[in-house]
Amino acid sequence: MTSPSRSKAWQKLASHYLNLHHNGTTIAGLFQADASRGERYQCQLDGLFFDYSKNLMTDDTLATLRELADEAGLQQAITGMYRGECINTTENRPALHVALRTPLPDADPAFNAAANETLTRMSGFVDKVHSGAWTGYSGKAIDTVINIGIGGSDLGPAMVSTALQHWRLPQMRSFFVSNLDPAHMRQTLAQANAETTLFIVASKSFGTLETLRNAAIARRWYLDEGGDEALLHRHFVAVTANTARAQEFGIAEENVFPLWDWVGGRYSLWSAIGLPIALSIGMAPFRALLAGARRADEHFRDAPFERNIPVIMGLLSVWYGGFAGATSQVVLPYSQELHLFPAFMQQLEMESLGKSVDRDGNRLLVPSGPVVWGSAGSNGQHSFHQLLHQGTHYIPADFIAIVHTHFEADAEQHRRLLASCFSQSQALMQGKSQRQAFNELLAEGMDEGAAYALAKHKVVPGNKPSNTLLLEQLDPQSLGTLIALYEHKVFVESVIWQINAFDQWGVELGKQLGEQVFTALNAESDCDRFDASTNALINRSRRHE
Ligand code: F6P
Repeated sequence: MTSPSRSKAWQKLASHYLNLHHNGTTIAGLFQADASRGERYQCQLDGLFFDYSKNLMTDDTLATLRELADEAGLQQAITGMYRGECINTTENRPALHVALRTPLPDADPAFNAAANETLTRMSGFVDKVHSGAWTGYSGKAIDTVINIGIGGSDLGPAMVSTALQHWRLPQMRSFFVSNLDPAHMRQTLAQANAETTLFIVASKSFGTLETLRNAAIARRWYLDEGGDEALLHRHFVAVTANTARAQEFGIAEENVFPLWDWVGGRYSLWSAIGLPIALSIGMAPFRALLAGARRADEHFRDAPFERNIPVIMGLLSVWYGGFAGATSQVVLPYSQELHLFPAFMQQLEMESLGKSVDRDGNRLLVPSGPVVWGSAGSNGQHSFHQLLHQGTHYIPADFIAIVHTHFEADAEQHRRLLASCFSQSQALMQGKSQRQAFNELLAEGMDEGAAYALAKHKVVPGNKPSNTLLLEQLDPQSLGTLIALYEHKVFVESVIWQINAFDQWGVELGKQLGEQVFTALNAESDCDRFDASTNALINRSRRHE
């Protein structure tokens, strides 16, 4: 496999970027030169509007990025994924999260069949819980769901359930426990009643330390609270690809919802890992979430690259990482309901693309996945946006905004939120020159000397790129589309960088060492087998425990 940096398009992009730089091209200048820029660089997918005009790019940039995609075989790679080819080569399996929401005529029908069968089972279970036919040990209906999982078995369902609070059924409460810190589970249990609580133990492997330990606390708590051991099956269900281990833990076989090795953890919220979502909002909205994702799948598969949202997003990410020196990207949902979206995106992008070797195991010669971070706007404006505007790092931003609020009485305040969002991308792009700052200070009555000195601190360089994704409203369908577009964006990046986006070997080392350190913490005598720092931390903890 030859490095993407050796391709013709990559080399063209390198000199194109230098030209833009040397010519002092700015995004604001490109807008001044082309009145139609805003209209030309936008796409619409149902109620989702994608504005990518505030990027440092021209038609030439986009055309060359598409050449790069062609040289990398992006179209064939997309077709291969939808066909169920074995694209996760290090684990010898396909990556078929699309099969969970979209019929795939060219793939083995067993994938779609398994997905549909599971949806039907989920539906039956959700109906029983909601109707009160499924009761706890004392005969009361379930009103609290506690999902125990971590990583992909937590972040997706937690993010979606939080984002769709507006759809939450009034009789259902849901909690998500992930952290190994027992405080997380204990503080959650303090809010629950064992008679009416259902635990979902969500773990693809059913071997994840955090999840198994938290599930053990939950089981003990249930019994301590007076729960009937014989009726434990009414309070514990599992979602896993490892039924045998779930049964060993004590979960009845009929309470195990399947997951498959062809669905990666971070791509799994569409499967039975989404059970807490369906229990919270109901099956029809859950199906609408899948339908929204299906729209993104069809768009990704069928739209020409010049109008293909994930392709454009992915190529722009490659552009900034490969040529402009951007090492991070910020995700800014201007929506409290989407406040967990950046955390979800961190796993999606960084676990998929945080790799240093290509699919053949050769060292990458180009920078790969960026650091992804962010939080809900407008909060960030009063903390880290300072660095976005005036810091020395170059950080492309994705703004996500919702036109309609669910709180109509506060429509005007919501309009202020939108104004904050749109003006932030504007400020990042246009900045403020020293002359502007100086004149403003003079107009405020400051004397020239002081204005000159202060103006230097008020300079905002601008020319910082951003995308804006504007959703008409936040509902299950639009959320499904949004998430799936980002999944595909990650796939595009992985194809260009020639990375396997579906494995995560890097996390294993920490797990191995964790076991050894745990043994040392429990030992009778002081530890001297590791480095001096780790030994000291272990020994100090042992003495003070
Ligand atoms: O350790 C990383 C990881 O394997 C993630 O990829 C995964 O989403 C998470 O742990 C949880 O894994 P599981 O669902 O098998 O418990």
